[in-house]
Amino acid sequence: MTTRWLRPTRPGQQPRLEYGADYNPEQWPREVWDEDVRAMRAAGVTIVSLAIFSWARLEPTEGEYDFGWLDEILDLLHAGGISVDLATATASPPPWLTTKHPEILPVDQQGRTIWPGGRQQWRPTSPIFREHALRLVRVMAERYGNHPALTAWHVSNELGCHNIYDYSDDAAAAFRSWLQSKYGTLDALNAAWGTSFWSQHYSDWAQILPPRLAATHPNPTQQLDFKRFSSEALRVYLRAERDVLHELTPGIPVTTNFMIMGEQKPMDYAAWAADVDFVSNDHYRLPGAQSLDDLSFSANLTGGVAGGRPWFLMEHSTSAVNWQPVNVPKKPGELARDSLTHVAHGADAVCFFQWRQSKAGAEKYHSAMVPHAGEDSTLFRDVVALGDTLRKLAPISGTGRTPSRAAIVFDWDSWWASEQDSHPTDRLRYKQEALDWYTAFLDLGVRADVVPSHADLAGYDMVVAPILHVVPQALRERLESYVNAGGHLVTTYFSGVVDENDHIWLGGYPGALRDLLGIRIEEFEPLLDGDSAALDNGTIGTVWTDHVEVTGAGVEVLASYKDGGAAITRRSVGTGSAAYVSTRLGPEGLVPVLGDLLQRAGIVSELPEELRGRVELAVRGDYWFVVNRTAEPVELTGLDGEVLHGSGTLLEARGVTVLRKV
Ligand code: GLA
Ligand code: GLA
Repeated sequence: MTTRWLRPTRPGQQPRLEYGADYNPEQWPREVWDEDVRAMRAAGVTIVSLAIFSWARLEPTEGEYDFGWLDEILDLLHAGGISVDLATATASPPPWLTTKHPEILPVDQQGRTIWPGGRQQWRPTSPIFREHALRLVRVMAERYGNHPALTAWHVSNELGCHNIYDYSDDAAAAFRSWLQSKYGTLDALNAAWGTSFWSQHYSDWAQILPPRLAATHPNPTQQLDFKRFSSEALRVYLRAERDVLHELTPGIPVTTNFMIMGEQKPMDYAAWAADVDFVSNDHYRLPGAQSLDDLSFSANLTGGVAGGRPWFLMEHSTSAVNWQPVNVPKKPGELARDSLTHVAHGADAVCFFQWRQSKAGAEKYHSAMVPHAGEDSTLFRDVVALGDTLRKLAPISGTGRTPSRAAIVFDWDSWWASEQDSHPTDRLRYKQEALDWYTAFLDLGVRADVVPSHADLAGYDMVVAPILHVVPQALRERLESYVNAGGHLVTTYFSGVVDENDHIWLGGYPGALRDLLGIRIEEFEPLLDGDSAALDNGTIGTVWTDHVEVTGAGVEVLASYKDGGAAITRRSVGTGSAAYVSTRLGPEGLVPVLGDLLQRAGIVSELPEELRGRVELAVRGDYWFVVNRTAEPVELTGLDGEVLHGSGTLLEARGVTVLRKV
């Protein structure tokens, strides 16, 4: 990944935090466009993403283009001082294409066709789709590559949002060739997939299929490889568009909007980040007790995926969305707080879906910067105020996040594998466990970076790797070196159990981590719904327990099950350590456990004691972001610095204070 950022579109353009939205002018009559540009200027908008869903308007019939309207709006935006992140417009194929070539339509696991009528109705591996899409990309790049408003390319949109898992014949063919290059020989594939089981041995590559609807549990390694392949297939597609753009317009950076949020797990963005010139993310806050923590976690992980460099928040919402069962608007203050939380974790651009709320179509009840009520609205006034705030925070742009002393490792392979079927329990939730640890860090007022498993861990004093289920030999060795070099590793139940082929590390669990942790487990003991296991430290475990046998020297039992047996262990290794938590404790239970582990590792909060847990702290160089986590105002004592935003003395409910430390 390079560190390229947006191309400046004006001479002498100063570094700034970008502000804007997806802009869909084709949904509006021409006269509204002038209103739009005027109001964008009033709001401090610096950038819009254009033409994301415009294929049918740009190429109304095959090979016949209508660029007049896009030329006009690009000129208008440029005249208004607004930069354009121009989409390649390939996100949703037009009806003429799917009518002529229904063989580009995806097929679900049960063999059903995914028909047009929504969006993203294309197979990631379809050669016909790719040919048409890349032709459009080429035409777009040739036409607009030199447009003065062009600041970046936006490949497609949320690749994989609806079409990640395709079980079509195209997917089957691409899956086979991906497997061929991965394994080389059928013998290697048969060994990796454990096909001696249930008479699954393959004698010809042509016999291999995606894991289509099966009579019972499909082969787990086939499933895991299909997940890896599906993520890779879209990466290959992303690179195909990117390569056309790099070839024709080498001076323009290329991005695509990731979806690091909630339970969005099919795309391995840790890998995808290598394919874009800068990382962009879309984030929508989900309701629930950990809503705010998940926002912070996602922004933090996006920063981790971006290697600590600034990134682009491509979409979030000004208020309600339209795609949840119940869509609650944001409360006063939340619009700015949510945006600034992303900035706190490294976003140098704050954009929304979308500029003007649609009048028609499936997203007409989704909030936007200009609501149905118009500019004379609380929402638009909040939008204008945020534009003002971002202008004042411009000096922060370009500053990477300041690494924390602790990290949480996030591993897509473990996420995928640990939640597959036919396991000891189907109640285990990888992301939830990681988020619970993150909440515990926040509750203790200790910063933790969320980083992909390939990240360099050496700089961290403590690394928490929850449910690190898939541990290949190389990762095992990295973790051993980390601990031997004085690092403090913390891991949990169902970690270290399998290798990269989803084969069990034999000899007792937790397999690859058994010696490092100095423990051995003969049998897992997951808990039924409603059952729990009390620990002698006052915490309560659910979902999972283990019978932990202490086998190594230097292992201390930090907590035991009241019914007997070690629950939490910690092995000292020189100045480092390796700890194991054998049950799900939830955020409340993790607070004392993590607090103890942090203390032993010598990690202390940077916040004054009264503020710990009540505010979140994020640091970018000299800039401290302090976010209220409570529903009450918080008195800010013991923090000093120049106040750039908010109050230095009283942090409103849902408020954010930004300080420059002096
Ligand atoms: C996604 C899409 C947008 C829009 C929003 C609505 O992020 O990229 O086009 O559909 O969701 O929340
Ligand atoms: C059935 C099958 C076995 C095995 C067991 C597992 O009895 O005949 O092959 O799958 O279930 O419980």
